[in-house]
Amino acid sequence: MRRFYLTTPIYYVNDIPHIGTAYTTLAADVVARYHRLCGDDVLLATGTDEHATKVLQAAQARGVDPFQFVAEMADRFREAWAKLNVDYDVFIRTTEERHQKAVQALFRTLQTRGDIYEGPYEGWYCMSCETYFSADEAPEADGVRPCPNDRLHKPLQLVQETNYFFRLSAYQDRLLEWMDAHPEALKPDFRRNEVLAFVRSGLRDVCITRSAGGWGVPVPGDPSQVVYVWFDALINYLTLVGYPDQTASQEKWWPADLHLVGKDIYVRFHCTLWPAMLMGIGLEPPRQVFGHGFWMIEGAKMSKTVGNVVEPVRVAGWLSELSGAPPEIAADALRYCLFREMPFGEDGNFARSSVLARFNSDLANELGNVLNRSLSLAIQTFPGAGGGAVVPRPTPTETALSSLAGDTHRRVTAALETLDLQGALNAAWEYVSAINRYLADRTPWVLARDGKTEELGGVLYHTLEAVRVLTVWCLPYLPCAAREMRRQLGLDGETTWESAGHWGELQPGAPLPVPTPIFPRIDRKVLQAALAAADAAVPASGERSGAAASRVADAAAPGGGPPPAGRAGGPAPTGSGEQRQSEGEKSMEPVEGVATIAFEDFARVELRVAEVLSAERVPKADKLLHLRISLGDEERSVLAGLAEFYTPEQLTGRKVILVANLAPRKIRGLMSQGMLLAAEHGERVSLLQPDQDLPAGARVR
Ligand code: MSP
Repeated sequence: MRRFYLTTPIYYVNDIPHIGTAYTTLAADVVARYHRLCGDDVLLATGTDEHATKVLQAAQARGVDPFQFVAEMADRFREAWAKLNVDYDVFIRTTEERHQKAVQALFRTLQTRGDIYEGPYEGWYCMSCETYFSADEAPEADGVRPCPNDRLHKPLQLVQETNYFFRLSAYQDRLLEWMDAHPEALKPDFRRNEVLAFVRSGLRDVCITRSAGGWGVPVPGDPSQVVYVWFDALINYLTLVGYPDQTASQEKWWPADLHLVGKDIYVRFHCTLWPAMLMGIGLEPPRQVFGHGFWMIEGAKMSKTVGNVVEPVRVAGWLSELSGAPPEIAADALRYCLFREMPFGEDGNFARSSVLARFNSDLANELGNVLNRSLSLAIQTFPGAGGGAVVPRPTPTETALSSLAGDTHRRVTAALETLDLQGALNAAWEYVSAINRYLADRTPWVLARDGKTEELGGVLYHTLEAVRVLTVWCLPYLPCAAREMRRQLGLDGETTWESAGHWGELQPGAPLPVPTPIFPRIDRKVLQAALAAADAAVPASGERSGAAASRVADAAAPGGGPPPAGRAGGPAPTGSGEQRQSEGEKSMEPVEGVATIAFEDFARVELRVAEVLSAERVPKADKLLHLRISLGDEERSVLAGLAEFYTPEQLTGRKVILVANLAPRKIRGLMSQGMLLAAEHGERVSLLQPDQDLPAGARVR
């Protein structure tokens, strides 16, 4: 039996869970469920990071005792994970005594080994991402030093105090040796390269205590200081397995098999500081750290200030209300959408319109159809007790789906083993399509009408068995829905991953209950009304953020989101210093017929002919081009994600169509004042241009 210890980051409790924190937690849950089905001894850990200054400030702002505040917030996280069908094994809070003990023990060990020393500190601190920066790392701009890492680039604060330091610089060579010997340890590969570059560029010792505030684990032997929140937080992964006292448990579970984290906390913390701390106390680094990408909200960064924070529990509730599906099934649907929509590892764009579209097409129509149709047909011809049916007999002639099942099982398994969480679903849904095609080819309803009972039984057995196999692949992603599908196939007990690799487990003659649609299709009119009133139905982050931004978001993208910013230009994703900024932002696929917009809405978009005056590549951003364009009476700077499709020479002098009234944004320190329109098909991208020579500035309607 393999043991598999995997972790999520522990989340700051100054705010409630949002779609981003849910994404990592759900990913961990998918992976854990897969391993449990494989028969592994799994430990899935999550928790809350409670010693951050911003957490203390949030408590103070509410006038609540910080301990009471963090306890309440930790409960909010647990409640959210329960509502999203997350089955974690352990939950840790950093204010727990066992954790304080672990932090102090680790601190002492490093101190004894000479890896911690006292010294004066002067540097710049970001309260938002709780990170220290040197003056070189965070250059001054317009009288402030914006944080180079934090998504909102908040101003840093100068910190001057006497602190304790961890001798990280001494670990540079050992870290590089480890990375070299274990290429599988840092994934995906493009992020590993960022870590290598960061470590090779030279590591500085890190300040690991703070004297101000007093909110945190006291430094052993010096209660005037508390341990720096990141140093404290990383140790949670060891506390969870019994460090420092429970050696048997620690031996069983350490090193962790997988730390799942977002790209914001990948390079510096999980791939550099943490392995070095572990090496310092003589423990092995984790077997793998995986850094996934970030969700943008309708092309914009998610932020409380903007008011576009998406709460997954509310989205699931909204989906449940619209469809009539029970809340846990709606939560499953949201889980499915998150992993089907964007490749794990890359950035993506979240749009509620796309969740609705996928609910109807992928889940209600495609997945729901295969089960419902075959069960309803079985009831007509092979009736069983209580209005249900019995499993019909297979016939040797039906083979279309059985060999495909074996291939698909290998593909889904390989994808899950490499954390290609989207790839596994893509393969499974190709199989769903194959079942639907099979039904269309074999027309069992015609066989039923013509009284060809034996042949009909063969076709229905083949379909039901295919659905059984499919439910196993679905169990990690759609745990409640897949269980319900299995119940409707008459299968109540536990199953194994392996069972999807076997054909023929359904027993002829076994009872099949009366089916009910698991994903009730959302009525088209309800859907359109829901989109129009999206912000009223699902306000963005309730307490502190208004719903206005959410209205803008959905109103601007009723058809499924804006054009892919990372490709066609305009506001490409920005973010932490650790991300590939123009990297892989996937937009929603176009959603046909989801909702219409009023002409007035379209008229709010100012489209103009523009002439490209010059174009150049943006250093270190392999997809971005920086354009200077003319609108006749005005020149503008535009960043476009076109470098993969056009050379600067091909663009210079060309007439293009510009979305001229898009709010300007700074990307990589450059202003982007508009977005070019482009059509895309598969991997092809083609810029729109007028077919006559019109002057720059001409209106497009
Ligand atoms: N407390 C630290 C982590 C300590 S781990 C020892 C922290 N907490 S956090 O609450 O800010 O959570 C950060 C994590 O939330 C990211 O690494 C990522 O896993 C997840 N996400 C936050 N926003 C996200 C998106 N917009 N998109 C995807 N995931 C995001 O950092």
